[in-house]
Amino acid sequence: MSDRERTFVMVKPDGVQRGLIGEIVSRFEDRGLKLVGAKFAQLDRELAERHYAEHEDKPFFEDLVGFITAAPVFAMVWEGQDAVRQIRSMIGATDPAEAAPGTIRGDLGLDLGRNVIHGSDHEDPGANEREIGLFFDDDELTDYERIDETWLYE
Ligand code: RTP
Ligand code: MG
Repeated sequence: MSDRERTFVMVKPDGVQRGLIGEIVSRFEDRGLKLVGAKFAQLDRELAERHYAEHEDKPFFEDLVGFITAAPVFAMVWEGQDAVRQIRSMIGATDPAEAAPGTIRGDLGLDLGRNVIHGSDHEDPGANEREIGLFFDDDELTDYERIDETWLYE
């Protein structure tokens, strides 16, 4: 048991509208990851622009902000060993058309601009903590032990 960490995950408006919240939560639960925070909300433009600030100069930025603020999202914090990288791996490639079958985007999406889910980037150190702080106050996150942890970790 080592490197327990937290990561930020968000079912995007297309995933919410398509009724995929339960499917996505199940995949992370089944893997052994622990849900420590969640909220259902519609993002305002300011929060969306801060969340995607790294892309503000890209040609797709306006479409991205418009899409992510268009309808409610389901924001979550998941905890576990190597959680940031493991969840990105479960999410799959950015473009669902290129994402491997078995990944969330590879199984549940088809289009780059409707790729169902966001997860903190494992190649951007600190992105997880930054995004968690953007969406959650400390008192909205919990510390608890899941009943299976003794058997999940060596
Ligand atoms: P996300 O941040 O949403 O989890 O996605 P990601 O890390 O896999 O991909 P990223 O490079 O951060 O891009 C953010 C979102 O912008 C849209 N995008 N469009 N038209 C384009 O070339 C383009 N490239 C990226 C995607 O919807 C992507 O999820
Ligand atoms: Mg990204």
